Amino acid sequence: MLELERDTGVKKATDILTVEDFDSVEFWVGNAYQAAYYYQHAFGFQPVAWASLKTGNRKFASYVMQQGDAKIVLSAPYSPTSEMAAHQMTHGDGVKVVGLTVRDIEVAWENALERGAKGLQEPTEMKDDYGSVRVATIATYGDVVHRFIERDNYDGLFLPGYQEYKAPVEVPERGVTRIDHIVGNVNWHQMDPTVQFYHNVFGFDTFIEFTENDIATQYSALRSKVVRNYNNKVKMPINEPAFGKKMSQIEEYINYYHGAGVQHIALSTDNIVETVKSMREQGVEFIRVPRTYYDNLIERVGEIEEDVEVLAENGILVDRDDKGYLLQLFTRPIQDRPTFFFEIIQRKGSEGFGKGNFQALFEAIEREQAERGNL
Ligand code: FE2
Repeated sequence: MLELERDTGVKKATDILTVEDFDSVEFWVGNAYQAAYYYQHAFGFQPVAWASLKTGNRKFASYVMQQGDAKIVLSAPYSPTSEMAAHQMTHGDGVKVVGLTVRDIEVAWENALERGAKGLQEPTEMKDDYGSVRVATIATYGDVVHRFIERDNYDGLFLPGYQEYKAPVEVPERGVTRIDHIVGNVNWHQMDPTVQFYHNVFGFDTFIEFTENDIATQYSALRSKVVRNYNNKVKMPINEPAFGKKMSQIEEYINYYHGAGVQHIALSTDNIVETVKSMREQGVEFIRVPRTYYDNLIERVGEIEEDVEVLAENGILVDRDDKGYLLQLFTRPIQDRPTFFFEIIQRKGSEGFGKGNFQALFEAIEREQAERGNL
């Protein structure tokens, strides 16, 4: 599939907003206590901090879970009239905040607004015994927001207001090291305006594009462009529905999420076989990869270090580009609605997103979509 990937020639990423990395991702959920249990036991995220009635937060309960550098926050409202409750009613569980570490919050905020972003919270300093954090928030696609966080002067666990949280039992990590990329689904014809937003406001560039002419698109019925920051740590593919052989899976997402939102988060690991195996043992459901996928794997992707038989046993996908290869696998949606899911990814040089797997992958996803009567 390599020949179908191309650099779009858009200007190189510039560092307009001083964005350095993903800081954290906050999900707004119906029951944060139970979600924290699931993220801990199934995925191996470690409880770090919480806010709740017991810590003096009378608006919402919130759990910070971490594995490697990947930080997930799970929050649920106490009041039926809160923005959080309305979000839950419309979207179900989903990502509300994609937190981005910035070097200078004033630069991020002023440049973002000057360049057309919708500001939601101006730079605000939060303090406690561990120092100070400065945060600011802007809108992006759908109801998702970007929270800029400048935390150089802070030694606390997450943000002021959060206290240490220990779960009743300990669960081992499952090898996740960081967030590799975060994918947004936007509505018909909204991919280019969204990508343009990241060009204009953030200075991000586009580096891989899937168009309607690609084989992948016929199967997956999506178009996708990837935006990234200057140091390549923040990578955000943006998908929109396309006409294909079947109903677009992006459209299914939008129908059930009731709007644009985060489709999946890819979590990096250094040992995908162990990570997937241990998550599966704890009940995480991954998409089913047809056995035939492995029949001519080496002809498709070339020599790899892993034993094909082991990959087949664990249903792990492989793809290659000119820089190397990657191994990946996708969970099923992790809530009742067919919306958000996780990807587990191990990169061995490849900077791609597994485009060569689109056909095999989406045939598998479509089987499940058909089972739900949505194809
Ligand atoms: Fe991905």
